[in-house]
Amino acid sequence: MAPIFSSVLLSLCLLSSPFLSNANAHKKLGFTADLIHRDSPKSPFYNPTQTPSQRLRNAINRSVNRVAHFTNIYGKDASDNSPQTEITSSHGEYLMNVSLGTPPFPIMAVADTGSDLVWTQCKPCEDCYTQEDPLFDPKASSTYRNVSCSSSQCSEFGTEGSCSTDNTCSYSIAYGGDRSHSKGNVAADTLTLGSTNSRPVQLKNVIIGCGHNNAGKFNKKSSGIVGLGGGAASLVSQLGDSIDGKFSYCFVPLTEKDRTSKINFGTNAVVSGKGVVSTPLIKKSPQTFYYLTLESISVGSKKIQFPGINSGTGQGNIIIDSGTTFTFLPMEFYTQLERAVASQIKAERQEAPQGSMGLCYSATAKLKVPVITVHFDGADVKLDSSNSFAQISEELVCFAFRGSDDFFIYGNLSQMNFLVGYDTVSRKVSFKRADCAKM
Ligand SMILES: *[C@@H]1O[C@H](CO)[C@@H](O)[C@H](O)[C@H]1NC(C)=O
Ligand SMILES: *[C@@H]1O[C@H](CO)[C@@H](O)[C@H](O)[C@H]1NC(C)=O
Ligand SMILES: *[C@@H]1O[C@H](CO)[C@@H](O)[C@H](O)[C@H]1NC(C)=O
Ligand SMILES: *[C@@H]1O[C@H](CO)[C@@H](O)[C@H](O)[C@H]1NC(C)=O
Repeated sequence: MAPIFSSVLLSLCLLSSPFLSNANAHKKLGFTADLIHRDSPKSPFYNPTQTPSQRLRNAINRSVNRVAHFTNIYGKDASDNSPQTEITSSHGEYLMNVSLGTPPFPIMAVADTGSDLVWTQCKPCEDCYTQEDPLFDPKASSTYRNVSCSSSQCSEFGTEGSCSTDNTCSYSIAYGGDRSHSKGNVAADTLTLGSTNSRPVQLKNVIIGCGHNNAGKFNKKSSGIVGLGGGAASLVSQLGDSIDGKFSYCFVPLTEKDRTSKINFGTNAVVSGKGVVSTPLIKKSPQTFYYLTLESISVGSKKIQFPGINSGTGQGNIIIDSGTTFTFLPMEFYTQLERAVASQIKAERQEAPQGSMGLCYSATAKLKVPVITVHFDGADVKLDSSNSFAQISEELVCFAFRGSDDFFIYGNLSQMNFLVGYDTVSRKVSFKRADCAKM
């Protein structure tokens, strides 16, 4: 795994153009962008004929696939010597409207905390998946430049031993499991991020993958990925010092589909004030993922411990992810948790739909759900019933936790209506209860 990327390699600064925020080169940045949920009316994926519970069922399916891919990556990374970077193929669910190059060329990219590289499909295409929007043409951007083989960026971002005869650095990413991939040139160009209610921010010399050969499970409505993982190539690591390693997001509940979730960077991403709790971010391989330490979960006053937490091997036992629906726990831990929750709910338990969550009740039952508190190292996060139960069909409401054999993930239902802040410098993740629709 590459060492943490040093921001010295990048000359990141803001252009002084009238439509840009007027921060200058060495100032700390603070900016906010919209996260367009794939099922929101603003998203190109929007399907108005789907009901909210159909959308959730589809999300659950995608989420289960994502866990399968996490497992895949994890298994692969143990060997560590693979020349390719393995990243997940269920790419998360939020789109970011970014622009690349000069003049700015709009790109609908998937924002993903489960991967690192920022890439888009580029002209000329040797082999590209079908994309509805026009392709980015590096020749049309006056700020585009290829990264050369001899540069330090190439050793950070490029694929070993893959220099072309003309000294251009190339990359290759294989996506776990399903043979999806992207290959192309490592390049630097200007990336513009904006939000509906703030001025666009131009980031110069962001290292991107300009993909000329991309195939697999990519959606024709999206034209690339913005990786927000913890690895060297991610946008977060590249922005480095200028954002003090900070970003935060606030996920609006799915029921408020007209509201846009937000992602904040730098000075806008500080999570502070009353009720903030923080837990250490643990360094572990692969660095792409954000590892936390989950000690126990309380159901009312009954506390259930994460298996092995007292043996000293528990550090970094769970990944926090934006693109996984449920929270996945070790099977025996989940079983105890489910039993404790079920024992405190009066309503009659219903059979779970095939291949779906275990603990379900009738949607019409007036459920009194026990308070569930998630105890991370140093941070007690109190969930409310909309974090712990989700309506998955007209008839059923089910517990939003599941058992897994090998991969443990703190999912996004547990994070809804929390401001979740990542600080990759002080190495901590903070949670603060919030009304995300009002942010
Ligand atoms: C979820 O996936 C399973 C198996 O892949 C499939 O049988 C089922 O129809 C899918 N459900 C939805 C709602 O798409
Ligand atoms: C959580 O992740 C799933 C799967 O990627 C996605 O479909 C869903 O919309 C996300 N939910 C929220 C509240 O962000
Ligand atoms: C994305 O940005 C472009 C250019 O700024 C704009 O024209 C387009 O309407 C935006 N799309 C969405 C869905 O916000
Ligand atoms: C970048 O490298 C590719 C492949 O070597 C080449 O075709 C292209 O012309 C180069 N672009 C620029 C702007 O130098």
